[in-house]
Amino acid sequence: MGKQVIQILTLSIVLMMNIAAYPQSTNILIVYGSFSGSTKEIVDSMKLYLANESMLVQTLPAEKKKIELSTYDLIIIGSAIRGNAPNPQVIEFIDANRDELSKKDVAVFAVCATITSSKEKKRANALTYPDKIAHGLNPISKNVFAGNLPSTGKKFDDYMGKLFLGIETGDFRNWEKIKKWTIEIKTGRLDATPNT
Ligand SMILES: Cc1cc2nc3c(=O)[nH]c(=O)nc-3n(C[C@H](O)[C@H](O)[C@H](O)COP(=O)(O)O)c2cc1C
Repeated sequence: MGKQVIQILTLSIVLMMNIAAYPQSTNILIVYGSFSGSTKEIVDSMKLYLANESMLVQTLPAEKKKIELSTYDLIIIGSAIRGNAPNPQVIEFIDANRDELSKKDVAVFAVCATITSSKEKKRANALTYPDKIAHGLNPISKNVFAGNLPSTGKKFDDYMGKLFLGIETGDFRNWEKIKKWTIEIKTGRLDATPNT
């Protein structure tokens, strides 16, 4: 009898040590809408940052399709902005999966140019982009990242961008800030205030 108790105790201790050594990973899905690739590059980096923290991460270009979301602990939705609006496929994805998404932890980020604008009104407007992307969902965290706006090669276009939007052409992605936010999601130190 005494021997059996010791055996059961030893087994329990080994089991507990295994559970501690291999904690259940957080399963994360990143859904994104990118027009010309810079948002996709951000998503690819996020995947690496999270994978380095032992998270399970999948990425998915947004489309109008209902998908199985029950296995994910967190869904990050990111979109580039064009014409003051998110990528339409992100909105279509949310509409197709709204019921399931509203029961999940969702974090949202925007990628745009005007968050770097010299004009305060344009920067303030850029801070409204995450809510446009969330499209009625209630994210646990949201952020706005400066994107990549290459020159069209036409000096007139660049001049008009500077004059009316207060923006310069160039790659303004701040990888440290992107990494910080991504890691904060993982550690649960979430800040609902958008920042760049
Ligand atoms: C045609 C066009 C329209 C854009 N419209 C906006 C806009 O309305 N507001 C903004 O902040 N940025 C705007 N941008 C900047 C993009 O959001 C930025 O370049 C972003 O990095 C693009 O991401 P993507 O490469 O994933 O498509 C625009 C860029 C282009 C090329």
